Amino acid sequence: MSNNDIVWHEHHVAKAERSQLKAQKPCILWFTGLSGSGKSTIANAVESRLLEMQRHTYLLDGDNVRMGLNKGLGFSDEDRIENIRRIGEVSKLFVDAGTIVLTAFISPFRVDRAQVKALVETDEFIEVFVDTPLAVCESRDPKGLYKKARNGEIPHFTGISSPYEAPEKAEIHIHNDDISIEDVTTQIIDYLQIKGYIDA
Ligand code: ADX
Repeated sequence: MSNNDIVWHEHHVAKAERSQLKAQKPCILWFTGLSGSGKSTIANAVESRLLEMQRHTYLLDGDNVRMGLNKGLGFSDEDRIENIRRIGEVSKLFVDAGTIVLTAFISPFRVDRAQVKALVETDEFIEVFVDTPLAVCESRDPKGLYKKARNGEIPHFTGISSPYEAPEKAEIHIHNDDISIEDVTTQIIDYLQIKGYIDA
């Protein structure tokens, strides 16, 4: 059987109805940044705040997804592209379910992030650039990976031996080297309210 033999089925229940039930406008909060930049920490804090506000969310996180859905993918350019492609497709399903999705992946390549954006409607993709200088990430080194990468023990390490292409025009730009997690969270929640994804 080829893909030509597959026929798309329209669902009886539509995205608009699922979203209406959840009283929110679904979207993907796509966090991108270097390892150790604070993506997961911020995404977790934002999700907690949204839960307090009784919003419907789901968090997809790099390390965790790589233990399940994307087990077997490594860090070559090719594998990273496939990693992000799958996350994009899963995120799209969550958006269709009416959910606010938070994703925390380095997602180093601009073109891959653009491809995820193209999967959903324009205002459903919110790029959040967690902009923390490499030197700061390296000094934090929460998992000890930068040290290993510098010693040549981890090949293709982002920022060291593999490139990171910073967003040119992220919807939300966070300078995460001198700001509290509460303030960052508020900045993102404010954005969601001002743009009408959630009620104020
Ligand atoms: S991505 O580049 O494909 O988007 P992803 O966010 O899924 O990466 O995974 C990054 C996490 O994997 C890092 O936070 C780090 O803990 C771990 N990791 C292991 N090897 C590497 C590597 N070579 N480069 C970057 N991160 C790595």
